[in-house]
Amino acid sequence: MKLLILGGTRFVGRHITEEALRHGHDVTLFNRGRIAPHGFPDVRLIRGDRRVDVSGLALGRWDCAIDVSGYLPGEVCASAEMLRGHAQHYVFISSVSVYPDSVEPGADENSPLLELPLGIDDSHPLAYGGCKANCERVLQDIWSDAWLSIIRPTIAVGPHDPTDRFTYWVRRISQGGRLVVPLQLHRPVQLIDARDLAHFVLDVVEQRFLGTFNACGPDARLHMGGLLEHIAHVVGAGLEPVHVEEHVLAARDVYLPFTVRDDRSVVLFQVSNRRARDAGLRLRPLGDSVSATLEWDRQRGQPPMVAGIHPDLESEILAGL
Ligand SMILES: NC(=O)c1ccc[n+]([C@@H]2O[C@H](COP(=O)([O-])OP(=O)(O)OC[C@H]3O[C@@H](n4cnc5c(N)ncnc54)[C@H](OP(=O)(O)O)[C@@H]3O)[C@@H](O)[C@H]2O)c1
Repeated sequence: MKLLILGGTRFVGRHITEEALRHGHDVTLFNRGRIAPHGFPDVRLIRGDRRVDVSGLALGRWDCAIDVSGYLPGEVCASAEMLRGHAQHYVFISSVSVYPDSVEPGADENSPLLELPLGIDDSHPLAYGGCKANCERVLQDIWSDAWLSIIRPTIAVGPHDPTDRFTYWVRRISQGGRLVVPLQLHRPVQLIDARDLAHFVLDVVEQRFLGTFNACGPDARLHMGGLLEHIAHVVGAGLEPVHVEEHVLAARDVYLPFTVRDDRSVVLFQVSNRRARDAGLRLRPLGDSVSATLEWDRQRGQPPMVAGIHPDLESEILAGL
């Protein structure tokens, strides 16, 4: 198939690109060529900034366009309009963040979406989910009479994750020793390995699964305590958790990945993946994500992380208890 990937070089999109190439598809990427100017040397690149000019998208015809890099309704509107007549099928990577806090645990794809409050700015906690919800609405308007699929992943994990959220726990636990952990270890967590997500996206593309899918794992119900124990087991480290109340961490502006500053992530970590599972979403064992992440983190030389607690600050907090 001839596939266009909007983005495709950082993390989720990078795995989709790799999976598409493994399946033998003819892939074109559209991005600014900044993140990985030489990442896929044999893949055709249409260079462009989707927030400025998407006319480059009129340069080809594709069986499917996979939009991994749409965050704002305006940019998604521009690409969706430009691709009418140039792509048969539009697959949009959205997020479970489109659901409001009021949804019930087990929310399925028919649950109501966030309504973006008027005049909010980017720093508002609902800005990301609200904008993604509006991107979906724009697509439903522009592609209502054509093939449209929307995929709503939960937190994606695995190699190449630029957020370091999962990587923080994997690296930190593998280092052993006393470890700051949150008090609320019973809270649920949902994750999806970006490689499983990419696999599912390719199923959606190749088999033309239309409609909306929550894409989340892992296979069995998981809570924060279970996640930390599982990581310790896989990396072969003893776990010496030191439970620290969230207000102590908040006072130092520390946020532990997958814990909650409010009740919002509790909702987002309990959506139903039944529709995607019925369509064939396969989820690898969590241990596979842990070991692949650890290996990748070691290969990249374990640079300072953008998530979790800095080691010096962690020592200070532990010493002060
Ligand atoms: N990570 C998670 O936990 C998670 C969870 C749920 C949903 N999602 C969704 O999954 C997607 C993840 O994104 P990703 O970063 O991993 O995807 P990616 O496709 O691997 O990387 C982002 C791509 O977009 C390109 N890009 C960025 N700004 C651009 C612009 N203005 N014009 C053209 N291209 C641009 C980047 O290349 P250049 O910079 O070189 O242009 C890069 O190729 C997002 O849609 C996100 O909302 C992620």
